[in-house]
Amino acid sequence: MGQKLRIGILGSGSGSNAQSIIDAIEAGSLDAEVVCVLTDVEDAHILARAAAHGIPAEFISAAPYKTKLDGEGERRYIEALQAHGANCVVLAGFMRIVKPGLLRAFPQRILNIHPALLPAFSGMASWKQALDYGCRVAGCTVHFVDEGTDTGPIIVQRCVPVEEDDTPKTLHARIQVEEHQAYPEALRLLASGRLRVVGRRVVVDSSEDATEVPGT
Ligand code: GAR
Repeated sequence: MGQKLRIGILGSGSGSNAQSIIDAIEAGSLDAEVVCVLTDVEDAHILARAAAHGIPAEFISAAPYKTKLDGEGERRYIEALQAHGANCVVLAGFMRIVKPGLLRAFPQRILNIHPALLPAFSGMASWKQALDYGCRVAGCTVHFVDEGTDTGPIIVQRCVPVEEDDTPKTLHARIQVEEHQAYPEALRLLASGRLRVVGRRVVVDSSEDATEVPGT
C-alpha cells in the first residue's frame, strides 16, 4: 500500500465530485481522508457540502489572476494545503489553470477531472463541444495534472452515449453520473500505491507490494 491519502480538494462550484469522494470515504470504499476543501469562489456550494461533513472549508482568494492560479494566489493555496497536511490535491471543478509552483509542491500528486474523453474537447463546456461536434459517445477523464491544459497522463475514463434529444444540460448530467464513479475509482488506484507513469501511460501494477515510481 502507498502512504494514506490526505486529500486537499480545490473546487469552484457545486462540488458534486467532492461529494462523491467524501461519500466513498464515508462508505468505506476509499481509504483516504479529505483534509480540506478550498475554493476561489466566495459563495460556492462546495463549501456547504464540506462543512456538512465537518471538513475544514475555506474561500481563498486567487487574486490577482482571473483564470489561473499563480503568483500570490498560488502561494496562499500551497500554504493552506500544506498547513492542512495534504499529500494529494484533487481538482474537482476548479476553474483555473494550475501553474508550476503547485506542481512542484505536489509532484505526481495532483489529479483533475475533465468532462470529456481527452484528448478530445479540452477547455470549457466540453460536453457542449462534444454535442455540437456530433459525437455519438461522450464521457469523462481523470488524469494527473502536468504543465499543459488537460494534457496529463490518463488514469480513468468512462463514457456515455449521446442521445438524439440531448441538450448540453442533459448530456452534462449523464456525464456527471460517471464522474462520480470515476473520481473515487482513480483515487482508489492512487491510494493503492500501484500507479506508475510510463511516458504518457499510467500503468497499474498487479503486485500488491509494488511501490510508486516517479513519472518521466
Ligand atoms: C464537472 O463536470 C467537472 O468535470 C468540470 O466541472 C464540473 C464541476 O462539477 N470541470 C471542468 O470543466 C474543468 N475543466 P462539480 O462542482 O459538481 O464537481
